[in-house]
Amino acid sequence: MSFDEIIDRFGTHCAKWDMMEPIYGVPAKDGIAMWVADMDFRPPACVQKAVEDMAAHGIYGYWGGEGDYKNAICWWMSERHGWTVDPEWIFTTHGLVHGTGMCVDTWTAPGDGVVLMTPVYHAFARVIRSAGREVVECQMVNNNGRYEMDFDAWDAQMTGREKLMILCSPHNPGGRVWTREELEGVAAFAKRHDLILVSDEIHHDLVYPGATHIPMANIEGIEDRLVMMSATTKTFNIAGSHTGNVIIPDPDLRKAFATRMSALGLSPNSFGLAMTTAAYSPDGAAWVDELIVYLDGNRKLLDAAVESIPGLASMKMESTYLAWVDFAGTGMERDEFTRRVQKDARIAINHGPTFGKGGESFLRFNFATPRSVVNEAMERLTTAFADLQ
Ligand SMILES: Cc1ncc(COP(=O)(O)O)c(C=O)c1O
Repeated sequence: MSFDEIIDRFGTHCAKWDMMEPIYGVPAKDGIAMWVADMDFRPPACVQKAVEDMAAHGIYGYWGGEGDYKNAICWWMSERHGWTVDPEWIFTTHGLVHGTGMCVDTWTAPGDGVVLMTPVYHAFARVIRSAGREVVECQMVNNNGRYEMDFDAWDAQMTGREKLMILCSPHNPGGRVWTREELEGVAAFAKRHDLILVSDEIHHDLVYPGATHIPMANIEGIEDRLVMMSATTKTFNIAGSHTGNVIIPDPDLRKAFATRMSALGLSPNSFGLAMTTAAYSPDGAAWVDELIVYLDGNRKLLDAAVESIPGLASMKMESTYLAWVDFAGTGMERDEFTRRVQKDARIAINHGPTFGKGGESFLRFNFATPRSVVNEAMERLTTAFADLQ
């Protein structure tokens, strides 16, 4: 398979390409979609085959027997992340935004606080606020283009109303892969303030050479308050399957979660289960290894282009395909640099403020697209800011 192939996604109910004109005014005719976090690549052949086999059989009845599905998840976590999972710990949700909603619903009540390390993936705050809970924004420190935690400041912010914390590991946006010391700091913080810790590790497979992801579950002493979340969807580009895993080692937490799942009548979609089973395999692993090499090339291309524009700075990414670019150095108002990217360069991007405090001067660029597209986007960006040269 070639990641260089340009695949036309227009007219396929594709959020990223079909919606960029209605939402951002970036013309479908010659715009470039670099916002929604999915990739413009086909998944590995093993995943495609699983769907084709189901379609060829042609009967779409209820799914039964989760053994191979759960074993595939356990195999992947052990093989790729050095984390031993018991199949009994695994729940399947309709993706991890849904998983987040389920956690908020299970372990907090209206009015409670939920802690986020901002700037962070925007859907967390949307879910928390929609559920009538309060978002407690603990802002990270931007230390020379690298996000760091600030436990002293965050300790001072706690009021006692906080019940849950969501960790994004690796972090989106900014692409930090947290170190063992940082994760131990999060665990200690959660204990100090008696918080359930939800660790969203959806980006854990997309880590660049030089960094190693450590599952929060491998940090000692946090197990009795820990909820892990992962999915095949980012790694294998199957987000439309809306399938995610909430993995809970602690029996009491598991019981509480199982009760809410049951009360809401939730059970998974058979296509998502089949795709996950196929993806978490040696063939899937080989494809991910190739994908990372390709994405790393795109990351370097984007970084070099951004760094050559005076006033722009791209965070040093250890993970994810979501570049986090700071426009503060241009001295321009947010409306002006955003207008140049959307109207002049005709690139649809995510706006920094939606990620919470600390995101104000940033735009997020998704570079999981053929290299020629990233190249064209960077040429346009350079032209749009040519007056700064
Ligand atoms: C940290 C994080 N969690 C969850 C999601 C989305 O998860 P899902 O599509 O499974 O709801 C994203 C998508 O970008 C993400 O970045």
